[in-house]
Amino acid sequence: MQNNFHGSQTAKAKLIIVGGGGHGAVVHEAATLSGHFSPVGVFCESTPHPSFQNVPRLAKEEEVAALLAKNEGVQFCIAVGDNCLRQELAQTWKARWNLPLATIVHPHAFVSPTAKVSAGAVVLARAHVGTFSEVGELCLVNTGASLDHDCKLELASSLAPGSFAGGNVTLGERTAVGLGASIRHGVSIGRDSVVGMAAAVTKDVESEVVVMGVPAKITKQRLRGEKYL
Ligand SMILES: CC(C)(COP(=O)(O)OP(=O)(O)OC[C@H]1O[C@@H](n2cnc3c(N)ncnc32)[C@H](O)[C@@H]1OP(=O)(O)O)[C@@H](O)C(=O)NCCC(=O)NCCS
Repeated sequence: MQNNFHGSQTAKAKLIIVGGGGHGAVVHEAATLSGHFSPVGVFCESTPHPSFQNVPRLAKEEEVAALLAKNEGVQFCIAVGDNCLRQELAQTWKARWNLPLATIVHPHAFVSPTAKVSAGAVVLARAHVGTFSEVGELCLVNTGASLDHDCKLELASSLAPGSFAGGNVTLGERTAVGLGASIRHGVSIGRDSVVGMAAAVTKDVESEVVVMGVPAKITKQRLRGEKYL
């Protein structure tokens, strides 16, 4: 597989971070500490988090166009925690600017050399991506989250801080696993579902539901894009 997170330093890629809130600040820090990126702009509607103090704010299309006219090889990342919104923003930005999506891995994350981390994915500090696992496009493996061997995170799905997935776990597109939840080995969760904080998921979970508790039970149906954070 083609990961280069443990390898030699190459030239830093210029990076636009879309999202200037708390999660944006964490992604900014991970990108900078990785040594692979030089942030050149943060795109956000209101004043960005103080951690962006030396990064120019971009608020309008013309400002993005001006930056891209002066810089080559710019990549972008969507630093937004909500899975559905992250996917929508990525689609909008790809269609409008045709820039490559950056893959950001904090230097204190462990990514197995046999794992695959796709474009637009973010893997934060103390996260663990185990042997032969796949982190799909635009996925988020948050602080201290762990997926063991042969797991598969599909498009824009996420593991919140301190959550755990045993071996051979699959998360469907945009599915979110909440803070400190645990997913038993071999379990598959469908698309657009949410696992509540601290849940213990012992069996497969269908698409478009919220589950919570120990053991986790369905508490309600949900529609794609419904808020959960
Ligand atoms: C599961 C979740 C989606 C439910 O959200 P919701 O449907 O809006 O539910 P509410 O907050 O209205 O709570 C409804 C009830 O469930 C309880 N509840 C909420 N989350 C719970 C959980 N994870 N486990 C057990 N009970 C929970 C609430 O206390 C409340 O109980 P009450 O009716 O007795 O007062 C949400 O609580 C959650 O866990 N989101 C993920 C948060 C997260 O991980 N964020 C990551 C940040 S990086």
